[in-house]
Amino acid sequence: MDANPIIDVLMRRASVREYTNKVPSDETVEMIVRAGQQAPFAAQLGSLLLRRDREKNPFHAPLLFTVCADVHRLELVLARRGWKRVTSDAAILLFAIQDAAYMAENLVIAGEALGLGSCYLGAAPFIADRIAEEYELPKRVFPVVQLAMGYPAAAPRPRPRYPLSFSLFEDRYPVFSGGEVDAAMAVMDEGYLAQDYYREGAIPLEDGRPDAFSRRSYSWTEHMGRKWGQWLRNPEDLLGPLLACGFDLNEVPDNAEKQGSEAA
Ligand SMILES: Cc1cc2nc3c(=O)[nH]c(=O)nc-3n(C[C@H](O)[C@H](O)[C@H](O)COP(=O)(O)O)c2cc1C
Repeated sequence: MDANPIIDVLMRRASVREYTNKVPSDETVEMIVRAGQQAPFAAQLGSLLLRRDREKNPFHAPLLFTVCADVHRLELVLARRGWKRVTSDAAILLFAIQDAAYMAENLVIAGEALGLGSCYLGAAPFIADRIAEEYELPKRVFPVVQLAMGYPAAAPRPRPRYPLSFSLFEDRYPVFSGGEVDAAMAVMDEGYLAQDYYREGAIPLEDGRPDAFSRRSYSWTEHMGRKWGQWLRNPEDLLGPLLACGFDLNEVPDNAEKQGSEAA
């Protein structure tokens, strides 16, 4: 197939965790943000916070975007039309998180196309109270993910992905054999080991077991085990910050009111 510049950008991209001192121009930032806004949306439920303080930003990146699930603006618009939201928080958040995520990925790709690298940071929902205070967020705005961005100081190679046979299921979802799972795991582990990706260290075992893994054997699948087999056990880790930002997943909205412009 012929080379395609957009596919090239997508296939070359890798998360960047080292940045040069070069500061992206306002024009560049605006172009990236406009491309982010142009992502498909359910109800424009994504909004962006920006911090340009390199000293404070992760990886000393010149830009730190916080991508928010923002129901506040929708409710302002609905109120002007004489409508009140009755969609549950559980449902509206699903759409808001999608809008935020598609917007975020457009930022990544637009940045990449303009020579900037980026890296997501997943802690935002769990430190939502701190972010809300820093940016004086109104209720009904929830930080979904952060995105560090700037000109790359290194050019990391693209990281591996599961084989297509473990990702695309045409007509029928298969029953995987142990061998097929092992083969997919091997692709990931060998790919990350070849890049010495975890040279900075492993996630420690929390139960005090001796660690049988070394720098030559600790790779992606063990890393996944140590994250998702140890972290964020308590639903309150997420439900607490959501509640602090004005979202209640158990909310049952009151449907009784008269709706629409005639009610206004
Ligand atoms: C929701 C989300 C959260 C992430 N959180 C972090 C993070 O906290 N720190 C980090 O260094 N990378 C983080 N990443 C980046 C991933 O580690 C990275 O995308 C993944 O290892 C694949 O590598 P690649 O982006 O280079 O292809 C996150 C990515 C996503 C999508």
